[in-house]
Amino acid sequence: MKNRHAIIETLNEAVRIEHALLMQSDHQATVVRGLWRLQMAPFFSQLAEEARGHARKFGQKIVALGGTPTVEVGPVRQSETVEEMLYDALRLEREALASYERALELADDDTAMRNMLEDHIEAERRHVEELELLIPSASGTRIESTPAVRQAS
Ligand SMILES: [Fe+2]
Repeated sequence: MKNRHAIIETLNEAVRIEHALLMQSDHQATVVRGLWRLQMAPFFSQLAEEARGHARKFGQKIVALGGTPTVEVGPVRQSETVEEMLYDALRLEREALASYERALELADDDTAMRNMLEDHIEAERRHVEELELLIPSASGTRIESTPAVRQAS
């Protein structure tokens, strides 16, 4: 595989973001308060478990490629409200998706890697779309350009 080193680096970028999503979502599930807690604590717990699974899946792929999966955690945000928490989750999901898309561009000569990434990108895209439905004002925007909530913090 001609881009092996670059793919390992890019997948490690994704793993770093998945670690952040794991820590952030787990924290959100712990602290979310009010009536929202009934639905949002399990929601964020599930997000954390998915991120853990994705970090492991691509960590194992990095090992198979001869690399070392990172133990680093990307930037994590702590928020007070459910809407802020959803924005924070969306931001990381979009970052992870962008990393997997970059890895796919690098994997043009490896059919198995391309298939793995295409399937994964499809699932990650659905996560992003699901979060955008929960925060309609975020649909079709870049998270940086929807700062109404973020400016408050
Ligand atoms: Fe993921």
